[in-house]
Amino acid sequence: MKNPLYIRIKSQETRIPVYIGRGLEKQLVTWLKKVYPAHAVFAIMDDHVYSIYAQRVRDHLLTHAGFKKILKFPAGEFSKSRRTKSLLEDQLLSARAGRDTVLLAIGGGVTGDLAGFVAATLHRGIPLIHIPTSLLAQVDSSIGGKVGINHQQGKNLIGAFYQPVAIFTDIRYLRTLPREEFINGLAEVIKYGIILKTELIDFLEKHHSRILAREEDALLQIVNDCVTLKIQVVEADEKEAGYRSILNFGHTVGHAIEKLTQYRVKHGMAIATGMRIALRLSRDLLGYPADQVERLCRLLDRFELREMSLHCFAFEDIWNTIVTDKKARQQAPRFTLMRSVDEPALFYPVKQEELKHALQG
Ligand SMILES: NC(=O)c1ccc[n+]([C@@H]2O[C@H](COP(=O)([O-])OP(=O)(O)OC[C@H]3O[C@@H](n4cnc5c(N)ncnc54)[C@H](O)[C@@H]3O)[C@@H](O)[C@H]2O)c1
Repeated sequence: MKNPLYIRIKSQETRIPVYIGRGLEKQLVTWLKKVYPAHAVFAIMDDHVYSIYAQRVRDHLLTHAGFKKILKFPAGEFSKSRRTKSLLEDQLLSARAGRDTVLLAIGGGVTGDLAGFVAATLHRGIPLIHIPTSLLAQVDSSIGGKVGINHQQGKNLIGAFYQPVAIFTDIRYLRTLPREEFINGLAEVIKYGIILKTELIDFLEKHHSRILAREEDALLQIVNDCVTLKIQVVEADEKEAGYRSILNFGHTVGHAIEKLTQYRVKHGMAIATGMRIALRLSRDLLGYPADQVERLCRLLDRFELREMSLHCFAFEDIWNTIVTDKKARQQAPRFTLMRSVDEPALFYPVKQEELKHALQG
């Protein structure tokens, strides 16, 4: 396992290090002292993560001369808002956070997106370090530079591409992650296996119990694999011009489920059902092997990512939600599908009848 991994962004001269390990607090402070010895240091956490980790993080950060304080905000998707962003900015400016400030985003994807957007705009951009603490944030949202907040018209409608200066991914945080959140992140892990690496699927099948028991070696392996894969995709297509849409596998229907249930269904559960539908479309339209579809659906079952029944929604509502999604093009739903285990079909146009059939199983 290489450590650190590096992200090389074309528009930036420097590489972004991604440290993956267990118990990285000391390494983080040593790095901060070396790279930002004279900067002010602030951290942002949601109140849930704060209640578990603030004391420990503070104890370590206090050894840096510039450490100021840890700000917190209420945990939950609703905090990805203009209001919470303004409150955090007010607090930072009142505490005299100048341009020589480094901001640590310590938490799940909500914290990374929100604090990342604060860092992107405060003084037109201050250095940001991601310290992802949920599985989803470790394998997905901390890599790639997308930051932002929601608007009442939809999720992630206001934001930026803003790369961090470093990422510290400590799998020990996953010990305290609620089980539902852990399973939520596993849906994205399985997605990487389906779209980019069959060996990851083999590993998930073989080490299923160790992963659910959160054995550190098994977690290190899957987090390292997923981060490596996401880096490859982001480096190939930083601003989502084309190839990066491979990561949308399962997300077309998944986003529709989230919207239609007003986000009561967790992202991972929604995309797990979306992935099953994308697999069936791949089989029916592109000849993706039927036995592989069955195998992957069994794997999703084993990780408690069961298929949701969509009978409670009218087909027209599902279709219209997909068509009006911000990623749809020219009013026609475009899906990320798979032709074979190692060949994706990006922006594949799917007709109403085809989707209706795939929804039926
Ligand atoms: N920027 C991107 O590229 C990208 C990619 C995917 C998702 N996202 C965004 O990520 C968000 C979802 O992220 P999430 O699932 O991490 O949600 P989240 O940040 O709300 O975290 C989920 C819950 O887990 C708790 N938690 C996090 N780490 C913990 C820990 N170590 N111990 C105990 N509790 C912990 C949080 O307090 C929260 O209650 C969404 O807003 C989504 O839009 C962004």
